[in-house]
Amino acid sequence: MTFEVPQAELADLERRVRHALRTADDGALDVLGHGEITLVLRLRTATGSYACKRLPAFPDPARFDRYRACLDAYLHRLADRGLTVAPTEVWHTRGPGGSVVAYCVQRELPAARLCSRLLHTEDEVWAKTFFGRFLDLVCAAVDPAVGLDAQASNWVDTDGTLTYLDVTTPLLRDARGRERLDVRLFFTSLPWLLRTPVRLAMSKSIFDKFYAPRGVLLDFLGNLHKERLGALVPAFLDEANARLNTPLTAAEVAAYYREDARMWELIQRLRAADRFWHRKVRRRTYPFLLPPPVDR
Ligand SMILES: Nc1ncnc2c1ncn2[C@@H]1O[C@H](COP(=O)(O)OP(=O)(O)OP(=O)(O)O)[C@@H](O)[C@H]1O
Ligand SMILES: [Mg+2]
Repeated sequence: MTFEVPQAELADLERRVRHALRTADDGALDVLGHGEITLVLRLRTATGSYACKRLPAFPDPARFDRYRACLDAYLHRLADRGLTVAPTEVWHTRGPGGSVVAYCVQRELPAARLCSRLLHTEDEVWAKTFFGRFLDLVCAAVDPAVGLDAQASNWVDTDGTLTYLDVTTPLLRDARGRERLDVRLFFTSLPWLLRTPVRLAMSKSIFDKFYAPRGVLLDFLGNLHKERLGALVPAFLDEANARLNTPLTAAEVAAYYREDARMWELIQRLRAADRFWHRKVRRRTYPFLLPPPVDR
């Protein structure tokens, strides 16, 4: 245990989340941040403030136990490779019909120290030293069995240390290159149209990029466009290419970002439609908290 998860307060947060989902009104939830898939909620308590990341519901305790083992293995592997990861605990409770509802919980870290923010607020000298440290970490951590989603918004820089935040989707592969994560479960929040077996098979290629430094860096650089930080790409490219056998080009980064943006836009539109279908047509609770639309 790295910290005590405030049990009663989390149970109360989950009650509020269920209420928000049931009433289709998440306006009263305290949102700390979001990624492409979901919202991160803030929980203020007497012992401090926490970042709470709700996972897709696990159909049974065995599926939940497997997730937990996978997350633990991932956290250990990253630590072994010298990465500082935000201490992460898992809290869970029973959901409807024997299911398990769980959250990854971290202490709230200062938003002003988020690297996607610092790349806007700090100067070029900071950006350069940041990128050098970042490259060292990515090159030490990533290989065909251990992946990283290294976007700038997944790191916090405090006291000269880069801390990695985004561990809810553990990127670990077995010796045969199969995802150890229950990918099918983590795709339940995608509309059924995207969940066909063919598309699940495609997920292999979607995940591939996270398991090689070149792919991780391509994704990082591409996402700078989303963060309106495209001006940094040329300087970062030179530094990144000094470490890569096959250099990246500015055109490849731009094309990658256009493709990635198109994919996420499509997913967001389909999910919004799916939510509408649940709520307005079938009159059922839509079970996921969706992030706001992103301006790409
Ligand atoms: N411990 C934390 N302290 C402060 N802010 C956080 C913390 N964890 C997450 N956040 C905020 O929430 C955002 C999203 O968090 P995170 O990257 O963990 O999830 P995600 O991107 O939604 O994951 P996924 O990409 O798997 O959907 C971060 O970019 C950051 O703004
Ligand atoms: Mg993230």
